[in-house]
Parts: sequence; C-alpha cells; structure tokens
Amino acid sequence: MKTTKRVALVTGGVGGIGTAICRKLAADGLFVVANYAIPGTEEAWKRAMAAAGLDNTSVALAFGDVTDFETMGSMARQIQADHGPVSVLVNCAGITRDTTFRKMTPEHWHQVIDTNLTSVFNVTRHVIEGMCERGWGRVVNISSVNAIRGQFGQCNYAAAKAGILGFTKSLAQEVVKKGVTVNAVSPGYVQTDMVMAIREDVREQIIAQIPAGRMAMPDEVADSVAFLASDKAAYITGTNLSVNGGLHMYA
Ligand code: CAA
Repeated sequence: MKTTKRVALVTGGVGGIGTAICRKLAADGLFVVANYAIPGTEEAWKRAMAAAGLDNTSVALAFGDVTDFETMGSMARQIQADHGPVSVLVNCAGITRDTTFRKMTPEHWHQVIDTNLTSVFNVTRHVIEGMCERGWGRVVNISSVNAIRGQFGQCNYAAAKAGILGFTKSLAQEVVKKGVTVNAVSPGYVQTDMVMAIREDVREQIIAQIPAGRMAMPDEVADSVAFLASDKAAYITGTNLSVNGGLHMYA
C-alpha cells in the first residue's frame, strides 16, 4: 500500500551503518526501504526494526544487487509502485577487500569499485529525475575518512570513496535549482562488522590514533545523515560532513 510519508531508500540498508540509518529516518517520520543483496543478511535488520517498534507502516526491504544498473531500475520502479517515489536516497552500500596494492587482484579492484562507486550511479540515476520533477529531494552518499587521507591496504576502497566525493560535488551543482541537495557523510572507524574484521593488532593501532579515543557508534553516523536528509539542511549541498572523532581534520 502506498504511504503518505516521504519515501527513503537506503542501499546497503541492512548493514551496520545502514540499519542505524533506517531506524533513525523511520523515527523521523519517513517510510524507509532498506536495500540488501545477500540473502539472509536481512534477518538482523528485521530484529533491529522490531526492537525499535518499527513495522511495515514505516519500513520495508528491497532485494537487489547495486552493481547492476537494470536491477536497480526495476527496484526503483517497484518501490514507487508499492510505496511511492523515492524522495531521499542514502547510498550506503559498501564492501572492503583490503590488501596492499602489490597483492591486489583485478577482482579486489573491480568488486570494490563496482559496489562502492558504480552503485552510486546505478541507483541515483533512477531516482534523480523524479526528485527534480517533484522539486524536492535529498541524496546522501556515504564516503569515508579514508577517501581524503588514504589508508594503507585500501587503494581500491579509498579510490571508490574519493570518487563519491567528486560525484557529490558535481551532481550537487546540477540539481540544486530543482530543490534537490546532494551531500556526503564521511565516517571514520565505526563499530561495525566491517571494522571488526580488521586484524585486531592493526585495529588497536588505528583506534590509538583517534583523538576521541574510541570508534564511532553507528547511530552517530545516522544522526548526521538524518540531518542532511531533513528540511533543515535545504541550503547545504555538495558538502562532506566528517564524523571521525578527530581522526582527520581539514577545512
Ligand atoms: N603504514 C606503513 N606501513 C605499514 C602500515 C601503515 N599503516 N601498516 C602496516 N605496515 C607495514 C608493516 O609494518 C609491515 O612491514 P614489514 O614487512 O617491514 O614488517 C608491512 O607493512 C606489512 O604489514 P601487514 O602485516 O599489516 O600486512 P598484511 O598483508 O598482513 O596486511 C592489510 C595488510 C590487510 C591491508 C592490513 O594492514 C590491514 O588490515 N590494514 C587496515 C586497513 C584498514 O584500515 N581498513 C579499514 C576497514 S574499515 C573501513 O574501510 C571503513 C572506513 O571507511 C574507515
């Protein structure tokens, strides 16, 4: 059944940060569709939504691989038919294939570029027209502190996340007159499975460098996304909001 709420689509919506974003946007009164691509990974998300008291009047799932342009087109059309047009898009789908460049294979490279960067084109391209036509829209792209500072073992990931920043600033210029803003949020190290997969000694060394002395909680990232997705952020576009506990500071 179509909703009267604004519809938000969160790619990678069942992951650590994605789940927190879904919960926050739904609490803010949006109808949130969480995209996911690996069967079974939605179970934890369902439990998290139920625990937050969110049911099918405010959240839904949409299966589909963000690396496939046509699949994303079908998904966007299905969401529009079932719930309504997407007004808020959060491009959150992302993976790591960390390895030093000298050991990096074409698979390591393409998997990360396709999932983290080409996905942003694949999904945004299908919803931006509707946002412009309706005169209101929000695109929030999840980048990373490592887009700006680089990271040993992440040539693929840092390149993809830096690409997101260039995309953000370019599209922002093209659609701002239509009432659509495009921004990035760059988390530092967040307490998620992705970060916990880093070898413990390496992870401890990274945490020791964070001025805040700890990793971020997913909700701390979600709050920034929710702000940029709100009416309050209407005049903010093309920006990159760092949520990194002081790990990297720049003007
Ligand atoms: N700078 C310089 N040299 C470094 C280094 C660094 N940061 N880290 C390691 N080295 C050196 C080591 O001292 C070692 O030197 P020697 O051979 O002289 O002893 C050499 O490089 C090999 O180091 P490793 O043993 O670590 O190499 P490895 O092949 O076992 O592991 C790696 C490589 C998997 C990339 C590992 O270093 C690693 O996991 N790094 C962390 C990557 C990371 O931060 N990922 C973030 C994931 S979360 C995320 O991406 C979310 C987000 O947005 C932040």
